[in-house]
Amino acid sequence: MTKTLWATSDLHVTFKENQATVDKLNPKAPGDWLIVAGDVAERIPDVVRTMGQLVQRFHTVIWVPGNHELFNRSTDRINGKARYRSLVGQLRALGVITPEDPFPTFGSVTICPLFTLYDYSFRPVGLSAKQAVAQAKVKLDDELSIAPYVDIQQWCAERLDYSRTRLNEVKGPKILVNHWPLVIEPTHRLINRDIALWCGTTATRDWTLKYNALMAIHGHLHIPAETRVDGISHVEVSLGYPFEKHPPHVQRPWPFPVMEIS
Ligand SMILES: [Fe+2]
Repeated sequence: MTKTLWATSDLHVTFKENQATVDKLNPKAPGDWLIVAGDVAERIPDVVRTMGQLVQRFHTVIWVPGNHELFNRSTDRINGKARYRSLVGQLRALGVITPEDPFPTFGSVTICPLFTLYDYSFRPVGLSAKQAVAQAKVKLDDELSIAPYVDIQQWCAERLDYSRTRLNEVKGPKILVNHWPLVIEPTHRLINRDIALWCGTTATRDWTLKYNALMAIHGHLHIPAETRVDGISHVEVSLGYPFEKHPPHVQRPWPFPVMEIS
């Protein structure tokens, strides 16, 4: 029987329309896998509840964190890096595969869930990160909900080191999965380009070629388009907010069928 590897991101289930869509998200065949590339929800119990539902339906479920999972409130008991560790622990307990687990293989392809964050390097030439953030006309909530709780650039550097080590350990073809795009080009579709500051890092630009990737899957921009760089497709698989509309030439099937095996 044919098995499909499906990919989604940015489920944002606090919107009731999105929860209704996720309620109907089912495998087509019993052996189907599902990638959830971040931004399930902001509150940990909502993330765990949603992933718990999906892991019951799909053979294998792979999750990477988005910025919304990392949002802290001053009243939260666990913040910053501890928040990520808590999410990983609770999702692992459900059987979900996280960026801290051995990479699974779908057929002969290794699926690599990554968590590389961002470091403000998608910024105009000649500005420091601090200057670019200060000058941005639109700032993401990350500045209020993540930045005060952790040194983002430092954490990004640590995540890059960790991810390189993990990717170097695996030979053969791969699918790279990350919430933030691995290359800057998808951010060129943003109406407000300032937002690119919170959308990734230039350090991952050559990863598809370097690590033998067949495709890169990402979310975050809520623009479900495909971008080809160095001959490799970077596909955004977001559901996004219910009020967001995209022209037909941008839209990709949702959930996105990454590959099939029989
Ligand atoms: Fe999102």
